[in-house]
Amino acid sequence: MASSQLKYMSLSVLVLQTTSLVLTMRYSRTLQAEGPRYLASSAVVLAEVMKILTCVLLVFKEHNYSLRALNSVLRQEILYKPIETLKLAIPSGIYTLQNNLLYVALSNLDAATYQVTYQLKILTTALFSVSMLGRRLGFYQWLSLLILMVGVALVQVGCSFMSKEAHSAGSQIVGVAAVLVACCSSGFAGVYFEKILKESKQSVWVRNIQLGMFGFVFGLFGMLVYDGDRVREAGMLQGYNVRLPISPWQALGGLVIAAVIKYADNILKGFATSLSIILSTLISYFLLQDFDPTRNLNKYKNKYIIRSP
Ligand code: C5P
Repeated sequence: MASSQLKYMSLSVLVLQTTSLVLTMRYSRTLQAEGPRYLASSAVVLAEVMKILTCVLLVFKEHNYSLRALNSVLRQEILYKPIETLKLAIPSGIYTLQNNLLYVALSNLDAATYQVTYQLKILTTALFSVSMLGRRLGFYQWLSLLILMVGVALVQVGCSFMSKEAHSAGSQIVGVAAVLVACCSSGFAGVYFEKILKESKQSVWVRNIQLGMFGFVFGLFGMLVYDGDRVREAGMLQGYNVRLPISPWQALGGLVIAAVIKYADNILKGFATSLSIILSTLISYFLLQDFDPTRNLNKYKNKYIIRSP
């Protein structure tokens, strides 16, 4: 397949995946039966396991379904190149930190302010792409970033008056600070991963296995710290029989993001996810007729407890 086809296909899949994840998360609660909730921290670990297994299958396919070749690639690229593997600990650790900062942000801001302010990550991504990858942006690209900044500033001014949830000025500052740091980490981690991908010939799926391995370790650590007692009491898989887990969607999201970074770039990824915010809002408004972002975004809070890449 031509690279421009792969680029637009991966971007379209990202828009569809993000939009359907948002809608699934909103409606999963109505589908859930009575019973214990599954642990958000264990969903993170399961998502990492799914990502790693899927990437192993993709590497297997890349090597014409030869077990011997798969074994040799995994050994050569992961085990025998510890420094290369360790490089992936950086974006992985930053993503873990970022996902927790977003949890702090969601606890202190109303959903609309959070959602729009977080789009500033497109700006940080652009600045990191220019400084770390030497990318040049055209006039219209800078102009769209400027419009984005004006939009975010307007939301900062407007949302505090319109919000249905009362947040004190103090918590607004904590929330905005958390989102701003998350914007920087999102930009840096994404561009760092892109740099690693584009500077070496190694398959994106091998890189994702390396990233996922660290994500798994960080996620497991988070699960034991946050939910250690509950895991010891009722096991890691408690609540999955009666609840609709979102781990497969999250795992798919990670894989699609990796493909987008490989075939397109981080800046386009940012605009694609912004497009999905507009799409899910329109679907909610016209098809589901229950548009109330302030209420609905609170459900996202679970997603961000120690959610590693
Ligand atoms: O908000 P942002 O676009 O920075 O979020 C990226 C998300 O994608 C993070 O939650 C990260 O864990 C995930 N990711 C992934 N695999 C990659 C790159 C990012 O799962 N290769």
